[in-house]
Amino acid sequence: MATNSNGRMTGKVALVTGGAEGIGSTVARMFVAEGGQALLCDVQIDKAQALADELGDNAAAFELDVRNLDQWHDAVKEAQGKFGKLTTLFNIAGISEPGNVVDVDLDSWQRTIDINLVGPFHGCRAAIPAIEASGEAGAIVNIGSMIAIRAAAFVAAYSASKAGLQGLTRSIALDCAERGVPIRANMVHPGAIRTPMYERYKFSGADEPENIERDFAATHPMNRIGEPEEVAKACIFLASDDASFTTGCDFTVDGGGSIRS
Ligand SMILES: NC(=O)c1ccc[n+]([C@@H]2O[C@H](COP(=O)([O-])OP(=O)(O)OC[C@H]3O[C@@H](n4cnc5c(N)ncnc54)[C@H](O)[C@@H]3O)[C@@H](O)[C@H]2O)c1
Repeated sequence: MATNSNGRMTGKVALVTGGAEGIGSTVARMFVAEGGQALLCDVQIDKAQALADELGDNAAAFELDVRNLDQWHDAVKEAQGKFGKLTTLFNIAGISEPGNVVDVDLDSWQRTIDINLVGPFHGCRAAIPAIEASGEAGAIVNIGSMIAIRAAAFVAAYSASKAGLQGLTRSIALDCAERGVPIRANMVHPGAIRTPMYERYKFSGADEPENIERDFAATHPMNRIGEPEEVAKACIFLASDDASFTTGCDFTVDGGGSIRS
């Protein structure tokens, strides 16, 4: 998919979680292509390192489990040490595990809340003072989901974690605005997107892969699966100065899925 590179991230330094693959790696690629510098953070450090090597001097990798606040402080220091400052945070790492409210495995519930909600909370807690210290306009982009807006019965923990993240993002947007801190906080809500997460479900054996593809596509009025680049473009816009009066917003990239009744 073609992308325009206009240097919109020149002078910006980002920490990207989930930077090893899927949407996070696509955002990291686009951020660097737009002139920025990025620290790719992930539990899959080998993959994150391979991508950082490919992207060159404006990228580096760091092993981070978003559940660990101490590691978050180290990651922020690493970004400041490598690139001189931190201006931008992309909370993209996340997991999705099936289970309705009665059947969901309790460990799965806790893991999902810890990675999808507590992780971004830790990230914002560690990164906001660092972004403030840069003295520049900053941005936080949190990845939610179409499911944050239109919950799904078969993913109770995921629905709760992403809706919780929406409340957290709005609280951060208000806090920064009311304190006069020039950091905007926004959410991007993807529909089904063709990433390793989606492919794992497609080939999980829950149904024939072609049925899963057809059924997922049909939940979106545009009747297709999205591409990671389509999500990354929204993330880059919200991180850019083009979005200078936008904070606390829900930017859907879901082919109309969240407005389907
Ligand atoms: N793919 C979709 O259809 C879809 C739809 C809506 C929302 N999302 C959201 O987009 C985000 C990215 O999803 P994706 O499809 O790229 O997923 P993915 O599984 O393809 O990639 C997720 C990345 O996050 C990393 N990660 C997982 N747990 C981590 C942890 N504890 N600490 C640090 N890194 C960790 C993984 O190693 C991986 O590199 C997630 O928050 C997901 O919920 C995805």
